[in-house]
Amino acid sequence: MSLEHKISKEDFYQKPRRTRVVEENDNTKASFTHFLYQEHSDRYKKGAVDYVQELLARKFPQENVSLEVAESALQYYLPQLQKDVPFPEPQPAKFTFIDLFAGIGGFRIAMQNLGGACVFSSEWDKYSQKTYEANFGEIPFGDITQEETKQYIPKQFDILCAGFPCQAFSIAGKRGGFEDTRGTLFFDVAEIIKRHQPKAFFLENVKGLTNHDKGRTLATILHTLREDLGYDVPEPQVFNAKDFGVPQNRERIFIVGFRKDLNVQGFEYPRGCEPQRCIADIIEEQEVSVKYYLSNQYLDTLIKHKARHESKGNGFGYEIVPHESVANAVVCGGMGRERNLIYDHRLTNFSPVTHIKGEVNRQGIRKMTPREWARLQGFPDKFQIVVADAQAYRQFGNSVAVPAIQAMAEQVLRGIWYA
Ligand SMILES: C[S@@+](CC[C@H](N)C(=O)[O-])C[C@H]1O[C@@H](n2cnc3c(N)ncnc32)[C@H](O)[C@@H]1O
Repeated sequence: MSLEHKISKEDFYQKPRRTRVVEENDNTKASFTHFLYQEHSDRYKKGAVDYVQELLARKFPQENVSLEVAESALQYYLPQLQKDVPFPEPQPAKFTFIDLFAGIGGFRIAMQNLGGACVFSSEWDKYSQKTYEANFGEIPFGDITQEETKQYIPKQFDILCAGFPCQAFSIAGKRGGFEDTRGTLFFDVAEIIKRHQPKAFFLENVKGLTNHDKGRTLATILHTLREDLGYDVPEPQVFNAKDFGVPQNRERIFIVGFRKDLNVQGFEYPRGCEPQRCIADIIEEQEVSVKYYLSNQYLDTLIKHKARHESKGNGFGYEIVPHESVANAVVCGGMGRERNLIYDHRLTNFSPVTHIKGEVNRQGIRKMTPREWARLQGFPDKFQIVVADAQAYRQFGNSVAVPAIQAMAEQVLRGIWYA
């Protein structure tokens, strides 16, 4: 039996025992999955073959595995390797986009809903990559600041999407142009726009960007996009997720831009939709696990914590949000999970509750579940949550409100198509 027939399709997805090669360059596995899910695009073929070669070399250390053998194995297994995923690429696609700082793919769901095909994704967090793979099939490429990663971006695509983390950058004493953002993730975004000249870009960030460094940070970003890169950039606007059909008070700034030659005139921002939704619309239908209910002991700690912070004038605290209202923005880190507590009157017959520290509070006060956070962000229920709760809360807290992104993206597409 030839070498390529001695492996199984499971081998392709197994965690390597010795991950040295993959750790040094895990872009090969990203290439492999991009190759599988993007109609076997030539762009990713070399990386995919390299990945299979590494895999074979690991499995058969005595053999000299040539690239030809690796390619033959890839071709042989190709038809069996592509799995059904909850969010496959739309067929036929109407436009292409790249998903930078992809997280768990909030942008991707919105863009795919509008008919877009994702031709490149990048996200360096391993847990987010795991969630992304479970939902879209692809593992995103890693660190986007690395030139090697940037080399995988296809030359042409229509829209660049990026919910980039905003690092503080100070432009004191500088001109406030492209070069002055060097060392920040915005610089990398700008550089990719400069090199690839997409028709449009769609950037998302926290509302705080508007007044960061007395407004100078945003001014520098806009100056770079307009003057240095030459894009038409309407004045950015802040949107609240609750105006787009999710019960969450989450304000984010959207910055979009169009390549000048498209001559996009009279761009219109989306309008919110009616009616607004409330917590009652998104809470889980079934009784949830006892682990989401707070023990009396923990509740006491929270109450004390809140009192201590409030007496110091700090805003931190949890709130028990009524079913007919909207939630505070879901955020990652710290005590984010406890910000929005809800009453759940279905708390009836928990027995035994031995794994809960302290007695479960009988009022039925509980945290929202990861699925409820997913719904607060507008993720459909078919979205797979494949990581532990702590990671899931972090991922949804970091993500975007999908319906708000989609409404905005629709306007961007109108701009491009009707220009
Ligand atoms: C604000 S979150 C964006 C979330 C995303 N829009 C979503 O829908 O889930 C920013 C993401 O950028 C990722 N990130 C930060 N620096 C990165 C880098 N240098 N390369 C790739 N990803 C990076 C973080 O891990 C994080 O998931």
